[in-house]
Amino acid sequence: MLGRDLEAAAVAAGHVCFGADLPEFDITRDDAQLAALPPCDWLVNCAAFTQVDAAEQRREACFAGQPDGARNLARLCRSRGCTLLQVSTDYVFDGRKGAPLPGG
Ligand SMILES: NC(=O)c1ccc[n+]([C@@H]2O[C@H](COP(=O)([O-])OP(=O)(O)OC[C@H]3O[C@@H](n4cnc5c(N)ncnc54)[C@H](OP(=O)(O)O)[C@@H]3O)[C@@H](O)[C@H]2O)c1
Repeated sequence: MLGRDLEAAAVAAGHVCFGADLPEFDITRDDAQLAALPPCDWLVNCAAFTQVDAAEQRREACFAGQPDGARNLARLCRSRGCTLLQVSTDYVFDGRKGAPLPGG
């Protein structure tokens, strides 16, 4: 949902935007598949294990997506000098901080 809407909005705003999704692009794979992503200034992670009710039963799949997948993207961005925008959820952060959270 977010990824498609964000891609459409970015293109409409005149940005060059490349959207990637399963099965061609899997954020849990810390390998050449990630490295094949085209260079960019910003990488927006809209991928997530979003089946909230299944998260406790499928812990391994849940953790593979977040935080492990987010970590893979953070490492890729660090190596390329581009900025990662990591989307979270109000299930975790309530949005009342009023400032970005510090990076790791
Ligand atoms: N929708 C909301 O109201 C809402 C509210 C607050 C925060 N958010 C946050 O926004 C983000 C996106 O949520 P959404 O609502 O857009 O959910 P969504 O429609 O379920 O999109 C998540 C996408 O991530 C993909 N994905 C899952 N594992 C992946 C992997 N290993 N590699 C690559 N892609 C993977 C899913 O593919 P499959 O479908 O093939 O599994 C799906 O296309 C999440 O972080 C969510 O917490 C959403």
